[in-house]
Amino acid sequence: MIYIILFISTFLSYHFFIKRQTWWSNPSKTKLPPGSMGWPYIGETLQLYSQNPNSFFDSKQKRYGEIFKTHILGCPSVMLAGPEAARFVLVSQAHLFKPTYPKSKERLIGPSALFFHQGEYHTRLRKLVQASLAPDAVRSLVPDIGALAESVLDSWAGGRVVNTYQEMKKFSFDVGTLAIFGRLESCYKEELKKNYSIVNEGYNSFPTKIPGTLYYKAVKARKRLGEILSEIISKRREKRMETNDLLDSLINSKGDQGELLSDDRIADNIIGVLFAAQDTTASVLTWILKYLHDDSKLRDAVRAENMVIYEANKEGNRSLTWVQTKSMQVTYKVIMEALRVASIISFTFREAVADVEYKGYLIPKGWKVMPLFRNIHHNPEFFPDPLNFDPSRFEVSPKPNTFMPFGSGVHSCPGNELAKLEILILVHHLVTKYRWELMESQSGIEYGPFPIPKSGLPARFWKQTL
Ligand code: HEM
Repeated sequence: MIYIILFISTFLSYHFFIKRQTWWSNPSKTKLPPGSMGWPYIGETLQLYSQNPNSFFDSKQKRYGEIFKTHILGCPSVMLAGPEAARFVLVSQAHLFKPTYPKSKERLIGPSALFFHQGEYHTRLRKLVQASLAPDAVRSLVPDIGALAESVLDSWAGGRVVNTYQEMKKFSFDVGTLAIFGRLESCYKEELKKNYSIVNEGYNSFPTKIPGTLYYKAVKARKRLGEILSEIISKRREKRMETNDLLDSLINSKGDQGELLSDDRIADNIIGVLFAAQDTTASVLTWILKYLHDDSKLRDAVRAENMVIYEANKEGNRSLTWVQTKSMQVTYKVIMEALRVASIISFTFREAVADVEYKGYLIPKGWKVMPLFRNIHHNPEFFPDPLNFDPSRFEVSPKPNTFMPFGSGVHSCPGNELAKLEILILVHHLVTKYRWELMESQSGIEYGPFPIPKSGLPARFWKQTL
């Protein structure tokens, strides 16, 4: 027994005294940021997950300031809660910080998905994804997105209780597949939806090879997704159709030596885009329904703006146009404010590829680095009375680097135009033709992992008789 105690105490002394000493005595005399590292191995992971994660970040920021160290999920980490620091990591010194995800998650998405990479491969893939999601490309999707919004809303009408978040996920998935494949045959669409939802369920579960577990099922479903996508890709190659969707640009892309992307690489990127597109957009839409429900004045203003367009379109007999979506200024500000208040991507992860010095502090090589978007979005210095939902604050542009709902720099969101467009379109059809009520007893937030209103915001919807 005594030997075990001796071993453990020697081990701990090494990690928590000798290793620290090397950092403190490093030649450039930079010091680690303030903060606490918690217990051996588990660090402060329990503190982070036993409460709302944002309370953890907030209390640390109050105690240590805008840069602090901690130890979570087995990794020493530096958290950055200021706009300049976020810009340093994501934009000006982005080459010193690489994206980092657990291997178990990479396996479910596919290791060649662009957001796991940096450098040449990332640049090549990013150009393709960005071009097919740019305003010029997504404007042609307006009628089809409109039809999807009308159909999903129609399916809720009648007063039954609907899980808003789960329903929004169906809509954002359909919009995602539209942008990737154009009009995909319904048998493929159903198979993709079924298997993707199993992958999605297993994504945040404990990674294990034990049959029957969520993770195991997700790995199997991911394999089936690869097979389905391979079939879709070879059919598209045979047909040689000229379409402008993402699948086409991935299939036709040639590298410097004229090399094509393999089916596996194409599949990983398609699943990556679906993954980035679905839960994010669905969470924001769910929050918007809540915010509009809770503020009748705001809801009336959004409805009034949209009724003008609805009437110009002969009570919805003509389709909404791209230009009309661009004219929805009140609705647009509601989206911006929802992105800020809900801050559904509270932070992101990078890893330092070298020892980096920032404002006199050392960020050691291999440490995780986390820009905290939510803390920046909720800082009263940049957004007075930050928890108050007030879209009018966006009448003035936020200060540089203080509003980053879509990230910043080389990995910033290439889907932001599509996300905003599909939200505008869904809200247009919602407020002009429906009324909705939220079920009682659901205030509060759930993290799955994006913050959503409790229980997915159960609600009832009715078609309005005008
Ligand atoms: C409201 C909805 C959305 C939000 C809030 C959002 C937010 C973000 C953020 C913050 C990042 C950067 C992450 C980082 O730096 O680590 C990102 C990246 C990304 N997003 Fe989105 N996103 C949304 C919707 C979409 C949609 C609809 C698509 C595609 C159709 C999409 C595709 C992507 C991709 C592919 C990346 C990775 C880019 C890269 O690594 O170069 N996102 N998103």
